[in-house]
Amino acid sequence: MTSASQKIIVAVTGGIAAYKSASIVSRLAQAGHDVCVVMSPAAEQFVGAAALTALSGKPVVTDLFDPRFPLGAHIELARAYDTLCVAPATAHFLSAAANGHSNDLISTLYLCFTGNVWVAPAMNCEMWEHAAVQRNVSQLESDGVKMIGPEEGWLSCRVKGLGRMAEPDSIVAAIT
Ligand SMILES: Cc1cc2nc3c(=O)[nH]c(=O)nc-3n(C[C@H](O)[C@H](O)[C@H](O)COP(=O)(O)O)c2cc1C
Repeated sequence: MTSASQKIIVAVTGGIAAYKSASIVSRLAQAGHDVCVVMSPAAEQFVGAAALTALSGKPVVTDLFDPRFPLGAHIELARAYDTLCVAPATAHFLSAAANGHSNDLISTLYLCFTGNVWVAPAMNCEMWEHAAVQRNVSQLESDGVKMIGPEEGWLSCRVKGLGRMAEPDSIVAAIT
């Protein structure tokens, strides 16, 4: 373990790199961190909640109106955890967060969160280079969000380019 045990939320949004979030969660759990996973509906298309539940050792949260959190999952989770890591972060998440939207669990949690926020974007290279995405990234950086990647490399759309999510080891090293 490289640092004292931390309380970390891994927020998984709906990009193909969501399958790598399982490695991030596993590495964090093995290092002794208290990990809670939240997922968007789109993320559940790419990786099963059961895998992330088993790896984190606690139920994944997918619903803003989850009855286990009477004050609202966004409020209770923001109060209980110190670090928020959105990996992978979609273009949709970057836009929602940069513009202060709060129409789903992860964007609402982001607005409530007062601890450290790390974001690992992942998307097709044309999406990443789009002026709107770059504008949202700049806004988030000036709001204090720390970006991890993306990197250049093989993309699932069958080209090499900039937009590949940083490797799980790099993300874990950055946030712990
Ligand atoms: C096969 C497939 C792969 C996708 N990969 C990405 C991706 O890597 N990055 C991204 O920003 N969006 C990607 N999308 C689009 C998102 O899933 C879509 O914008 C979704 O609304 C994101 O919702 P979320 O941010 O709430 O998870 C992909 C969609 C499909 C069908």
